[in-house]
Amino acid sequence: MLEKIRETADYIKSRVGDIPQSAIILGTGLGELANAITDKREIPYTEIPNFPVSTVEGHSGKLIFGKLGDNEVIAMQGRFHYYEGYTMKEVTFPIRVFQALDVKYLFVSNAAGGMNGSFDIADIMLIDDHINMFPEHPLHGKNFNELGTRFPDMSNAYDKDLRRLAMEIAKENNIKLQHGVYVGTQGPTFETPAEYNYFRIMGGDAVGMSTVPEVIVANHAKMKVLAFSIITDLGVIGKIVEVTHEEVQEAAKIAQPKMAFIIKEVIKRLNK
Ligand code: HPA
Repeated sequence: MLEKIRETADYIKSRVGDIPQSAIILGTGLGELANAITDKREIPYTEIPNFPVSTVEGHSGKLIFGKLGDNEVIAMQGRFHYYEGYTMKEVTFPIRVFQALDVKYLFVSNAAGGMNGSFDIADIMLIDDHINMFPEHPLHGKNFNELGTRFPDMSNAYDKDLRRLAMEIAKENNIKLQHGVYVGTQGPTFETPAEYNYFRIMGGDAVGMSTVPEVIVANHAKMKVLAFSIITDLGVIGKIVEVTHEEVQEAAKIAQPKMAFIIKEVIKRLNK
């Protein structure tokens, strides 16, 4: 595994040279943030040795290097979901490559169902914490001490200082920013009403099919994480209606410029 990570990191370095300290994972329907990136250099996943290839509708699958505002970033357009059949090691492989490339900050976005009764469709939720409901753990198996400790602490999985910064930026710019706990599930089914209710009782505010594996590995790698959910449908008793992938993408589209703005500002202030 270590050789593969190194080989992939070396390939990327040979293609782009200097590597930015911030990486962004663009979630379902959130690929448009990529349009805000200028001076772009793109590497399709199909060209990257050892990279899995994304298959899900709405994910085009490439690494984008360029500037968000004045700052260099890497963006992953298209991520690998467990429900597509990838192993957890494949789902989180890009995070290991970022680690090998000395990326310090990981920004993650996703589409999620809102279970908190005060949420509306197209709200943005800052993820304060998560509950891992995936059936397999991304750190299951042999631990490589070169990559991180056997028993990683998860008390600040979503970095407090980055969250404070995001909240400040949202407030200064009159952007409504909810916050709460993200429940990560394997999918691909959306939840039954009873499951939404269960996740709510358990302490969740939003539920989705991604993010948790990548965030666990980023914490193992000692990266600082900031993550956002766009609330694309409501799993709130009395408000539950049929959900489609198209509706999820539509709601994500509405919220994404605001989320992109917050991420851009956070990166700007980190680089000051
Ligand atoms: N559940 C799980 N994943 C999701 C949802 C949901 O309601 N909405 C968008 N992704």
